[in-house]
Amino acid sequence: MLFEKLKFDVLQILTVSETTIEKKLKQICELLQAEVAYYDWVGFYFKNGDKQELKLGPYVGDPTDHEIIPFGKGICGQVALSNSNFVVPDVKAQDNYIACSISVKAEIVIPIFYDGENIGQIDIDSGTLNPFTNADELFLEYVCTEISSLLKNQNYKIWLK
Ligand code: SME
Repeated sequence: MLFEKLKFDVLQILTVSETTIEKKLKQICELLQAEVAYYDWVGFYFKNGDKQELKLGPYVGDPTDHEIIPFGKGICGQVALSNSNFVVPDVKAQDNYIACSISVKAEIVIPIFYDGENIGQIDIDSGTLNPFTNADELFLEYVCTEISSLLKNQNYKIWLK
């Protein structure tokens, strides 16, 4: 199954390759966008220091104007506060949504936890309506957990500066 193969590939990127966290995260974005047909924009947001806002990290896809997102705003900002996965089958049905491109039809955001603290998230936009299933959530939770382990090994607070 695709996600089982991708789990292996993600782990290879995170644990085997000798490069910076930034580059590893970018490689994960590239892998996911290339391998999952309905993942069109794949990126990371992280808490911006002590501020109540998210800052854009590595991503692939169309450039976005939303490099900073205040907590509570949009799907990403809501996940920063709720600590829960947010699956949006149809972005048109959301009031609190920040549009990055008119081609986006659906979005999924999964938080990344570090010692129980919500420190960031993976954000995926899709040009396909209602593409995400529970398998996507489980797979992306795995990716976030493994990223958290890497950050733990390498002191993420230093990396985030
Ligand atoms: N749509 C997101 C904003 C980030 S972009 O998708 C890159 C949101 O509503 O939070």
